[in-house]
Amino acid sequence: MALQIRPLAPNGFGAEVVGADPTLQLDDAAFRQVEQAWFDHSILVFRNLAMTPEQQIAFTRRLGPLHIMVPLQYNLDGYPEIFVVGNAEEGGKAVGMRRAGMGFHSDGEDKAIPNAGSFLFGVNVPPEGGDTIFADMYSAWDALPAALRDRLAGKRARFSRIELHHVHYPHLPALTEEQKRDRPDVWHPIARKHPRSGRTALYIGRWAVEIEGIPQEEGKALIAELCAHAQKPQFLYRHSWRPGDAVLWDNRCTQHCATPFDEERYTRRMHRTTLEGEQPLLADLAA
Ligand code: OGA
Ligand code: MN
Repeated sequence: MALQIRPLAPNGFGAEVVGADPTLQLDDAAFRQVEQAWFDHSILVFRNLAMTPEQQIAFTRRLGPLHIMVPLQYNLDGYPEIFVVGNAEEGGKAVGMRRAGMGFHSDGEDKAIPNAGSFLFGVNVPPEGGDTIFADMYSAWDALPAALRDRLAGKRARFSRIELHHVHYPHLPALTEEQKRDRPDVWHPIARKHPRSGRTALYIGRWAVEIEGIPQEEGKALIAELCAHAQKPQFLYRHSWRPGDAVLWDNRCTQHCATPFDEERYTRRMHRTTLEGEQPLLADLAA
């Protein structure tokens, strides 16, 4: 049976996939429909899923090679492909990473090969709070003033976990020298071409600290301006989680941000599979 792809908003950012098997064991035609919808809408929402870890891994693997998150400590026992997010505990021990993803970012933006996509499954979700907000970075790029697009075309930004770890993860220990060596600063094009859609997205995020060819302080101010621009309400979709929801997002053309919830009262447990990516492509804007 063909699936229905229902856009979440008139501008086409985000769509809900309706009529899929709750374990996501899709036949080839349905899978191709999902993949095309993903490129067309950048984020896909699924409701009422009941996937085992194996089924989540099997579905995600059809989209491309999977990435195993390091350090391994937040990956599900026996399933290193599943990264656990949230405050769930088993036997008094945290199973996942708490307070992951506060602040707009795309997964792996601070790595040389950022992740192409991520698929987050809500196993336990709080009845209030803990929403995830997504930003449409194609529209954010298109809406920049032409003079600013010209100024940014061809420029790269430096992303630095080393400079910003203590800002984004104040509750975690400082990076060790070894961790710093493992996560050196990286430079990525700000006007990023999506390898499948061919469209240009604004590629910036919470780990960006400097813009090529722009004095440091001015670059920082411009990064803050670009981040604020991307967070304007017209570019956003806010997902309020119900148990059994899953969201597939494309890190090449969207950003996302976790929001807080009452961690004393509620358990939030999310299972994420993550797609390996490619070196970001610089958009050719000469035309
Ligand atoms: C992630 C992430 C946000 C959330 O899993 O990559 O940023 O709301 N999660 O859990
Ligand atoms: Mn994230």
